[in-house]
This record gives sequence, structure tokens and C-alpha cells, in this order.
Amino acid sequence: MSTTKKYVAANWKLNKSPKEARSFCSHLPAVFPEQVEVLIFPSAISLEAVSSSRDNKHFQFGLQNAYLETSGAFTGENSMAVAKELGSQWILVGHSERRTLFGETDFDVRAKALKAQELGLIPMICIGETLEERESQKTFRVLETQLEQGLVGLSSRLVIAYEPVWAIGTGRVATEEQVQEVHAYIKEKTQSLGLGPIPVLYGGSVKPDNAPGLIRLSSVDGFLVGGASLDPKSFLRLIEIVGQSE
Ligand code: PGA
Repeated sequence: MSTTKKYVAANWKLNKSPKEARSFCSHLPAVFPEQVEVLIFPSAISLEAVSSSRDNKHFQFGLQNAYLETSGAFTGENSMAVAKELGSQWILVGHSERRTLFGETDFDVRAKALKAQELGLIPMICIGETLEERESQKTFRVLETQLEQGLVGLSSRLVIAYEPVWAIGTGRVATEEQVQEVHAYIKEKTQSLGLGPIPVLYGGSVKPDNAPGLIRLSSVDGFLVGGASLDPKSFLRLIEIVGQSE
């Protein structure tokens, strides 16, 4: 994957109806700063609305999660193949809410990411430590396991999002030192696993006021944004900040 590009990805979680998704997309311009890839992860039920409001706008999108099988008797699940048919190029895998609330393991993460790659989708794989793990100096051990078990057998066509669990939705952003140290570790580790250059995004309470300092860090290739991606104004501001960082 190219690490010369920068990414700004919106994780809408379980927010925005199709109507709200269409309204959001109507606020997006046709083009974004060069070298900035803009991504939207709507809820599955609003994916078609995002897809159909894309017109000629240069953003990409994908599911926040999907099932391993693409069709069959799996009541209530979502198919990566259908997401692809709707124009998705991406899928978010292993978000901490999937791991903690829905019991997803590194094994599931790997299986879903492999399936995505098999279908030609790009997995954005989320990793991160809890507060307890950080406070007991286990951050790097946790990340090592998540990377070693989550990435086996994958090609380099993926993106990693480092999201410390304690920074998600809390307003408590990781310090620039913490981010730089972890991102450098992730880049080194993915390389030692035999992968090519992998973009590493930061996520966890990213807002227009803390984004400029973070995007200046050499190891930060962009952001995965929850809360601040719901309002087109703050999302566009983040895109602008990342565009100016080059
Ligand atoms: P947040 O969420 O920006 O609201 O902290 C980030 C995420 O969960 O991806």
C-alpha cells in the first residue's frame, strides 16, 4: 500500500440513517486535497445511501464489519460481496467495539481480513490496548499479539488503525510521544512479518484541535475518526488539516 498518501476515514458506528447519510454526502466536495484518501464507513443499512450519493465525488467507502461467508443461511449477517457490488473498496476489521462488545478475536480478525483481500477489498485492521494494559506496561505485548495473530497470511494490501481503547470516544487523546512510539513499532513489526510498507492511522478522540500536532508525526499516515466524523464541518476540517500537512 502507498504510504505517500494520507487517509481520513469516518467511522459512523451505529449512527446516520440513509437520509442522514445522503445529507452528509451532499456537503462533501467533488474533490479533496491531492494525496488525501477520504473514506466513509457507514452502518450496513446506510451503505447503499452512501454509495448512491457518491456521484462523481472522490471518496471511498466500506462496511464496518461483515460475515466470513458471502451468502447462505446466516440470518442477520452482512456480505462483503454485496458491499463490493455496491462499490465498496474497504472494510473495517477488528474495531475495539467488535472485540469487546461482540467477542471478536484475533483469529476472527485475520479470517475476515483474508476474506476481504480474497474479494479484492482492502481491510483496515484496528488494534489497540486497554487502559489497564497500558498502565501495566503491556501495550507492546498486546500489540505484538494482535499483529502476529491478526496478520498471518495477509498480503500487504491493508491499512492498520492504531486505536488505544482508552482514547476511543473518551475525549482523551494519546500524546504525540505515545503515538509516535507505537506507530514506529507497528511499522517495524509489520516489516518483520514480511509485509511491505503499511499505512498506519491513528484513531481515538481525533478532533480538529488535536489533529495538526498528530498528523505532523512522521509515522502517522492519517486518522480513523468516530465522533468528529459525524458533523460534515469537523470532518471537512480534518481533511483540510491532513491535506495541508504534506
Ligand atoms: P472517536 O472514535 O473518534 O469517537 O474516539 C474512533 C473510533 O472508534 O474509530
